[in-house]
Amino acid sequence: MLNAALQRFSRLELVPSATPLERLERLSAHMNCDIWVKRDDLTPLAMGGNKVRKLEYLGADALRAGADCLVTAGAIQSNHVRQTAALAARQGMACHALLENPLGATQACYLGNGNRLLLDLFGVTVETVATLGDPDAQLEALAERLRAQGKRPYVLPVGGSNALGTLGYVRAGLELAQQIHALGLRFAAVVVASGSAGTQAGLSLALAHEMPELPVIGITVSRPADAQRPKVMGLIERCAALLGVDVPHPLQVQLWDEYHGPCYGEPNEGTQAALHKLARCEGLLLDPVYTGKAMDGLLDGIALTRFAEGPVLFVHTGGTPALFAYHPAAG
Ligand SMILES: Cc1ncc(COP(=O)(O)O)c(C=O)c1O
Repeated sequence: MLNAALQRFSRLELVPSATPLERLERLSAHMNCDIWVKRDDLTPLAMGGNKVRKLEYLGADALRAGADCLVTAGAIQSNHVRQTAALAARQGMACHALLENPLGATQACYLGNGNRLLLDLFGVTVETVATLGDPDAQLEALAERLRAQGKRPYVLPVGGSNALGTLGYVRAGLELAQQIHALGLRFAAVVVASGSAGTQAGLSLALAHEMPELPVIGITVSRPADAQRPKVMGLIERCAALLGVDVPHPLQVQLWDEYHGPCYGEPNEGTQAALHKLARCEGLLLDPVYTGKAMDGLLDGIALTRFAEGPVLFVHTGGTPALFAYHPAAG
């Protein structure tokens, strides 16, 4: 039913086949728990990551609208802005971005390397703003200026997280459900970083329809759970309304809040430990802002027996270019 509802929406085929679902052999042995990873860090387009899935639907809508430029916003090291810029380049469009420096960072690597370096490579027109306090209004003001210059902008929200963008993770959730069925395993939980919320919302809606017994646990990376929960639930509801499907009851938004301190964009000791562990145990790269924190939550959840019995599934959402924007931690 969800699949049929999704087919009504046009999609750019940026992720033409399922991303791998792999068992992490050495980490599983080390943690004495079966750990699997859905490799959405391997999506095609500009070093991969979750935002490509949202862009499949948002990009199609931009083409339908006859846009000649994509307009979006984020932190200086935003993965969403990087992937939006790559899509714009691929479609022969311009890209304009509002960037903020949420940490007030002064290190050259944060200001000029990683995702920010790639924006220059993609030819993005960047405007630096003091804060993105009201990003929708700020983006609309930029779009208005571009219209006054005779351009045809298409605005993508921060993180690509509106109902249309969230369809990308409904589709990913259906893809994942098929892979789980084919494996014949009964997973205890799916763990994913929860920021602008579209990834968790789309996965939750799809899996609530397909595998209602399988919880999707979001590890907060941007704001406390009390503020994050209505964001995730609101997107689930708007996305379900867009698709014309029910939100299955009871769909509970599960969030773990202990891993995101001290704030968005700043790794903590647990983040660094998770980055090192996955690099050294599996040769797998995480990132310091999203997946390092989410993996810290997963590993701690196993250590504290917070999960039910069974294998645990990590959704790797990408972000590795940001590794080059942060000073490497010792150890
Ligand atoms: C690498 C990475 N992982 C996870 C997320 C969180 O996804 P969402 O914003 O859909 O909650 C983001 C968002 O920017 C991201 O860049």
